[in-house]
Amino acid sequence: MSMPDLSRFQARGLETCFHGRHIDPQIYAGLDGTNWRLQDYIARGGYAALRKILQGADGGVSMTPDQVIAEVKLSALRGRGGAGFPTGLKWSFMPRQFPGPKYLVCNSDEGEPGTCKDRDILAYNPHIVIEGMAIAAYAMGVKTAYNYIHGEIFEVYERFEEALDEARAAGLLGDRILGSDFSFQLHAFHGFGAYICGEETALLESLEGKKGQPRFKPPFPASFGLYGKPTTINNTETFAAVPWIINHGGQAYLECGKPNNGGTKIFSVVGDVNRPGNFEVPLGTPFAKLLEMAGGVKGGALKAVIPGGSSAPVLPANVMMDTTMDYDAIAKAGSMLGSGAVIVMNDTRCMVRSLLRLSYFYQHESCGQCTPCREGTGWLWRMVDRIEHGKGRKEDLDLLDNVADNIKGRTICALGDAAAMPVQGMLKHFRDEFAYHVDHKTCMVAQTV
Ligand SMILES: Cc1cc2nc3c(=O)[nH]c(=O)nc-3n(C[C@H](O)[C@H](O)[C@H](O)COP(=O)(O)O)c2cc1C
Ligand code: SF4
Repeated sequence: MSMPDLSRFQARGLETCFHGRHIDPQIYAGLDGTNWRLQDYIARGGYAALRKILQGADGGVSMTPDQVIAEVKLSALRGRGGAGFPTGLKWSFMPRQFPGPKYLVCNSDEGEPGTCKDRDILAYNPHIVIEGMAIAAYAMGVKTAYNYIHGEIFEVYERFEEALDEARAAGLLGDRILGSDFSFQLHAFHGFGAYICGEETALLESLEGKKGQPRFKPPFPASFGLYGKPTTINNTETFAAVPWIINHGGQAYLECGKPNNGGTKIFSVVGDVNRPGNFEVPLGTPFAKLLEMAGGVKGGALKAVIPGGSSAPVLPANVMMDTTMDYDAIAKAGSMLGSGAVIVMNDTRCMVRSLLRLSYFYQHESCGQCTPCREGTGWLWRMVDRIEHGKGRKEDLDLLDNVADNIKGRTICALGDAAAMPVQGMLKHFRDEFAYHVDHKTCMVAQTV
């Protein structure tokens, strides 16, 4: 059997982060695709924040863990993994006085379709994550941490391992870092490619060597996390934002974005655009600007956008063109900023067919623990499949909505919601296309794929 031609999946440079088309970048600043090593990072001012908290800046005084957490709270940094939870607040939940091991975990699983920002951080600026995690560990009194890296990007895992070796050799990881009392060990771990292992408790199970299935909550990881010990989990981009906050102050970070939405955010702009790629821009940047940076819509006029990864509800073009890219504005528009994957669709796209692809993904990735998710995601997929293939019934539209409603909020983890929300978003904004498929047994838009 001959190998399929995979060349169209190869990065051509435009898709990566080092194209220089960012606005006020903090994480991707100064990257050229080769300057990922420790010496390069230090030349860009790297590890100054870690020095600042441990030794004081310019001979000044060091920072206490409480001061570090206060700065992160002031910055209004919100978790970049999907939910947008305030990072400083999450760090304050860690019971610092707990006698015994406590853990810090970086979530580099990045399985959300459309999202490809964390792998670029790890590949092209790995030390910024190491420094951010060391600062977080200091703030929360943690001595051991893991970075859980998606299993299908093994070369990124190997790159991160190399960066860890460099940091250890330079005394930036290990015992008594930079001559201080602070000791911190960081290890990389590669997953095996299951989307559900990005869910934080499934990730912990997988890290413990078990089947990656989400845990019931409560208890939350802050009290019962890795090996049953207090654990804080943050996304790669969240940790990567921390050195800038410490170097420049929480207030400066806050002012770089919008109130309640501090700093920059990396958006993976994908789909029907001329220059897909990762773009780092301040939160609050108009969507229209981001689209322009990605070279505008390819192959037709803008029809719709999924603004925060495949689990975010779709929004029509007119709504998107009026909104800014931040957590609060996208929520007000009826969707979620999520992981920051911006999936652009032109007017040749059939929404039934698009939803079919999404529904297939979620039924395939359900871990099967809870009935509403295990059975419901399959029902959704099969219903959309029959509508797409001209076998839909009039009552299917309400039934789709009803099944989605019965999954939402009734499962152990949020994958159930993630499967239901795209269905409801599509029906809300593009119901006519679904009805047309049922009535005419064919599609109302020209298909190009
Ligand atoms: C099904 C599912 C998949 C997820 N995948 C990821 C992921 O790949 N990366 C990630 O950082 N968070 C993912 N999350 C969110 C994590 O559970 C968790 O909220 C996040 O890592 C916390 O980090 P943050 O506060 O820095 O955002 C996922 C959640 C769910 C329900
Ligand atoms: S919601 Fe789905 S993925 Fe999450 S635990 Fe239940 S069955 Fe597993």
